[in-house]
Amino acid sequence: MTHSDRGTDPLDPAYAEASVTRINPHIPHPARIYDYLLGGKDNFASDRKAAEALIEVSPGTREGVRAHRAFLGRAVRYLAAEAGITQFLDIGTGIPTQDHTHTIAQESVPEARVAYVDNDPIVLVHGRALLTGDPAGMTDMIEADLRQPEKILSDPAVRAVIDFTRPVAVILAGVLHFITDEEDPYGVVEQLKAAVPSGSHLLLSHITLDFADHLSREEFTKPYDDSPAPMVPRTHDETLRFFEGWDLVDPGLVEVVTWRPDPVEYQEQIPGGHAWAYGGLAIKP
Ligand SMILES: C[S@@+](CC[C@H](N)C(=O)[O-])C[C@H]1O[C@@H](n2cnc3c(N)ncnc32)[C@H](O)[C@@H]1O
Repeated sequence: MTHSDRGTDPLDPAYAEASVTRINPHIPHPARIYDYLLGGKDNFASDRKAAEALIEVSPGTREGVRAHRAFLGRAVRYLAAEAGITQFLDIGTGIPTQDHTHTIAQESVPEARVAYVDNDPIVLVHGRALLTGDPAGMTDMIEADLRQPEKILSDPAVRAVIDFTRPVAVILAGVLHFITDEEDPYGVVEQLKAAVPSGSHLLLSHITLDFADHLSREEFTKPYDDSPAPMVPRTHDETLRFFEGWDLVDPGLVEVVTWRPDPVEYQEQIPGGHAWAYGGLAIKP
C-alpha cells in the first residue's frame, strides 16, 4: 500500500480524484515542463509556454533534456547490471515515461525494488499506472518533498519497498536544482546518505550554467519564475560537494553525455554542444 501526506491509498480512485483537484494547470510545473521537453503529453499550456521560453534562451534545451534522460538510463542500467544494486529510492522521479527506473533495473534484475517519490500530484496520478512492474520485483510511489528527507525515510510505503540494512541506490536526477541554498540542499543529501549502508550509491544530476557563456543566470531561470519551484543552476564544484565522503565511480562528475557513453546508443547533436547538466555516481565506502 502507498500513502501520501494525506494518508490515502493511490489505488483508491478517490486518491486520484483528490490529486487532480490539486493540480493547477495555470502555473508551470517542473514535472510537466520536463514531460513536454521529452515529447510527452501530460502538460498544459502554461508548461509549454515555460518550456518554449527555455528553448528560446537555450536552443539546446530539448536535446539536452533527452541527453540527461539517456544518462539516467545508462546509470540505472550500470547500477543493476554491474554494481549489483537491487533497491532504488528515486526522488523527484518525474512523470513516468517509457524507460523509467524500474523498467530499466528490472531488465537486468527482475526482482529489483523501486520506491518513487515526487512532490507533484500529477506525477502521483500517472504513477498509479506504474504499480505494475515485474511481479518478481516491487514498485511503489509516494507523494513527498525532498526538502523533508526524514518524512521520506520514515514513510511506511518506502520502508515496505526498501530494506535500509542493504545497499540502496539513492537517485536524485534533475531535482536538486529545484532546492534553493536557503533550503539546505547539502544537509538534505547528507541525511539521505546517512540513512543507507556501505555499498550504497548516489546517482545525481544537476543543471549548470558552466557552459552558458553568453547567458545570465536571470535570463536562464526566468521561465521558472511563475513555477512553485525556482531553478538554481550550480557549478561543477557546487555539484561535486553533494558527493562528499563517497567514492565517485569513473568517470566522475562529468557532462551527462560523457558519462559512460554507450557505443550503440544514438547521441543527438546538441545545439551549442553542451547538455548543461552534470551527472555522476558515487559509492558509500
Ligand atoms: C526535471 S524532472 C526530473 C525527472 C527524472 N528524475 C529524470 O531525471 O528524468 C524533476 C522532478 O522533480 C520533482 N520535484 C521538484 N522539486 C521537488 C521536491 N522538492 N521534492 C520532490 N520532488 C520534486 C518535480 O515534480 C519533477 O517531477
